[in-house]
Order: sequence, then structure tokens, then C-alpha cells
Amino acid sequence: PESIRSICCIGAGYVGGPTCAIIAHKCPEITVTVVDKNPIRIAQWNSDKLPIYEPGLQEIVMKCRGKNLFYSTNVEEGVVNADLIFISVNTPTKTYGAGKGRAADLTHVESCARIIAGCASGYKVVVEKSTVPVRAAASISEIFGANSPAASNFQVLSNPEFLAEGTAVADLLNPDRVLIGGSQTPAGLEAIALLTAVYSHWVAPERIVTMNTWSSELSKLVSNAFLAQRVSSINAVSAICEATGADISEVAEAVGRDSRIGSKFLQASVGFGGSCFQKDILNLVYVSECLNLPEVAQYWMQVIVMNDFQKSRFAKKIVSRLFNTISNKAIAVFGFAFKKNTGDTRESPAISVCAHLLEEGARLNIYDPKVETEQILSDLCHPGVCALPRERIENLVTTHADPHSAAANTHAIVVLTEWDEFKTLDYEKMIKSMLRPAWVFDGRKILDHERLMDLGFYTECIGHRYQRPQFYDHCNGHAPELLFSEKSKAFRAS
Ligand code: NAI
Repeated sequence: PESIRSICCIGAGYVGGPTCAIIAHKCPEITVTVVDKNPIRIAQWNSDKLPIYEPGLQEIVMKCRGKNLFYSTNVEEGVVNADLIFISVNTPTKTYGAGKGRAADLTHVESCARIIAGCASGYKVVVEKSTVPVRAAASISEIFGANSPAASNFQVLSNPEFLAEGTAVADLLNPDRVLIGGSQTPAGLEAIALLTAVYSHWVAPERIVTMNTWSSELSKLVSNAFLAQRVSSINAVSAICEATGADISEVAEAVGRDSRIGSKFLQASVGFGGSCFQKDILNLVYVSECLNLPEVAQYWMQVIVMNDFQKSRFAKKIVSRLFNTISNKAIAVFGFAFKKNTGDTRESPAISVCAHLLEEGARLNIYDPKVETEQILSDLCHPGVCALPRERIENLVTTHADPHSAAANTHAIVVLTEWDEFKTLDYEKMIKSMLRPAWVFDGRKILDHERLMDLGFYTECIGHRYQRPQFYDHCNGHAPELLFSEKSKAFRAS
């Protein structure tokens, strides 16, 4: 065809949903159908309450839905009617067999390829939007070649998605770059041109980058590896700050002022989460191992090791500050999503921190403005997350619709997501309802700790020690963890 008139996207998730809404919004002459095998998801996309929360998404979907944007469970029909098909299905880390715990599970991508091969005919551009290992497009082409007489008419492109959850609409409307990889043959270049023309409706030509398929596939893994590596790097330094009196925000400012380094993504925290960073690094690690590059694999693996260390370091600090025992103590948890402005909890650091506190016997009052109770319980009860049985977890966890009720009668507030609303809560009122000493553990370094201390809170946060001289006086010059640790108890007794 001269141009793409009809698009089908397989996978109505965090990527397929917002991406297709923007394409429909920006390309009124293209019909966009998003298909998914999950009828509940499709019903939600067709309802007033969309299955995912993204700022600005609802308005765009409502404007286009029923005009040139459709949601359906009929995958075959969507495929047959499309000139261009996005494969936007989940590619989680394998939980079984060879490469378990590392390799990307391509079951869903392969099943899409087989569905397409089984029902499509004529010319089709098939676009890998899912994040896949290098050379996955070759496997898709091979499935087409082996299954479909029309395969010579299928062109496979790589077009990885770089949107970030919480800012998906803004990222899609104004991307740093759109990456399109394809085979560097006349047919491949023609397919690249067709997809480029779709994005050209709203993306400037200099932002559309084209390259060979394998570079494109690898670039997505490497982008996420670099981003996560920055988080782990600054988090590694945050541990040094807490031990020395340096302030991680000041260090990040000084380092980020170097234009070669840049200031973005240098925010220390309890750790990165989300469905992608860990999975994509593990994918890169596995690819490196398979290519017999163990040093490369270990290098990237360390980014995950540091992230796990940061999460457990933070959880252990909470226990240590609360006099080394939190059994049966109530603790308020502010935020469960993996970052602000999303309800997504996949790989959220809140899951492992809460699991640690539960295993120590704490009772958790959890508040998150966008995460549903069932999601929180299902994450905490997921096999391998927490060593406790389900009934015990359900007993210990209460979710709250309001942060004040979550904080009442607790020993501590633990901030695990950087929701803006946490900055402006009425902490003066809150501390009056809490047990003393009342602690704030700020895993995102977003609160005003000077003010919290004025109100009487004891505070701890990532990458900085907020302690006043009188606090040390009050502890006879000992840092509180020394004062109340088993070791110091023995020391004082002697
Ligand atoms: P998701 O899990 O939210 O959505 C995937 C959807 O695909 C599900 O609704 C599932 O039912 C559907 N599906 C799976 N197999 C199917 C089949 N055979 N036929 C029809 N539907 C099928 O996943 P998400 O987050 O949208 O991710 C999709 C891909 O995009 C992954 O490879 C991910 O790595 C990548 N990605 C994700 C980003 C994110 O922020 N979530 C950002 C950039 C890339």
C-alpha cells in the first residue's frame, strides 16, 4: 500500500493502550483496533473506567473511541483487516525451564506470530513493539516463512516503545526519539517508510531514527539498562552519604552539573521498580551469557544486586530504628505503586519492603491513591514474596482510603512512592494521633524533614542523616541505633 489506513495492535496493556490512543488521536484517517485475548481488559477499555491510569489518557480515549479507535477480543478479525500490526504483548522474565529467572519469555510474542501467520494474507507490516531479546525479529520471520504461503509479503520491523508509565501520554506526544529498525533491503526500507509516515503525523523527522533491526532491538534493552544503572549508581552513593554526613541531593547536584553526565535520573530512592528495568536487564544478562560474555553479564547483573541491596537496607533500617522489634507494631505505609502517577505495582519496591516488615511481625496500614486493595494483597501474597501464609498477611495488612486514618496509632510512617500529595499532608495533625517517638522513614526523599523534626518527628531518609544535636544529647551522644541495639544494651549493662 501507499500508506497505512488500518492498524491492529495485539495487546491492550500499558503500552498498546496509550500508544494506540495517541495514534488514533493524531491520525484521524487511520482506523486503529486494539485487540486482546483478555475480555475483562477489553471491557474496561470500552467502559468509563479504563484499566490503567495515565494523566491525560482518559480524555483522548473518550474523544477517539468509536470513531477511529476500537477495542475488541477478536484478534483474528483485527489482524485480517489491518495493513500494519503491532505486537505489544507482555514479555515477562521466564519462570521455568532454560533461562529461568533471566531470559525473556517469548511465548506470547510467538503465539501472536502464529496467529498472524494463520489468518493474514496480502501485504502486512508486522511491528515488534514488545521489548524482546536481540534477534527476536528473526524468529518471527521464520515462523511466518514456515507457516504462511503469503510470508514473503510480511515485513517485520522493530519499533521499541520508550514511554514511561505515569507520563505515557506526554512521552508519546513528544518523544525524545522514535526508533524504527528494519532489514536494510528495498522491501525493508519500504516498510520502514510506511511506519515512519504514521509517526510523521506528529513527530518531527529528525526525531525518527531508523537503523537495522538488531541495533533497534538491542537499543531498547541498553536504554533501560543505562537508566536503571544510574539509579543503582546514585543509590550506592546514598549508602555512603548516610554513613558519612554527606547529602545525596547535594552530591547529585554537583555531579549532574557536568553536562557530560546530566542532572536527570539522579534521584536516590528506596530502589527502582516497574515491569521493565529488572526484566530487561535480566534479558541483557541472559543474552550476554548465551554469547559467552560472562564479564558483561556480571557487570549488568550488579545493577540488580545494588537495587535489591537498597530495598533491604531501607527495610532493615526501619526495624533497627524502631528498637529492633516491630512485632505487632502498627506502621503506616504511604504509597504502594512503583512510582507516582500510576496504579501499576509491578516490581514495586513497596512489595519487598512491606514483605520484610510483615515477616518481622509488623501490622501495616497501607495507603495509595491509585492502587486497589486486591492488588496490594495479591502482590504481597504472591509466591516467593513473603514467607508468611496468606491468612497471616491478610490479618496484618489493612488498606486505607485516607492517609490520616492510615497513620493513626502507628509508630512510623514509611514513604515508598513519591506521590506529590504526600508533601502537603497535615503532619502536624497526624503526629498527634501517633505513638511516640513518631518516626518518618522517607524512602523517596520528598518530605521537608526540618519541618517534620520541628513537629516532633524522628526522621530517616535515603541518602541523608537528619539528626539534630539535641537528639544526640538526648541519646547521650550515641546514635539511636547504637543506643538500642542488642550490642549496646549488653554494653550498657556491663
Ligand atoms: P501488559 O501486560 O500490560 O499488556 C500485555 C497484554 O497483552 C495483556 O493484556 C495480555 O492479555 C495481552 N496478550 C498477551 N498475549 C496475547 C495474545 N496471544 N493475544 C492477544 N493478547 C495477548 O504489558 P505492557 O506493560 O503493555 O508491556 C508490553 C510490552 O511492552 C512488554 O514487552 C514490555 O516490556 C514493553 N514495554 C513496556 C513498558 C511499560 O512501561 N509498561 C514501556 C516500554 C516497553
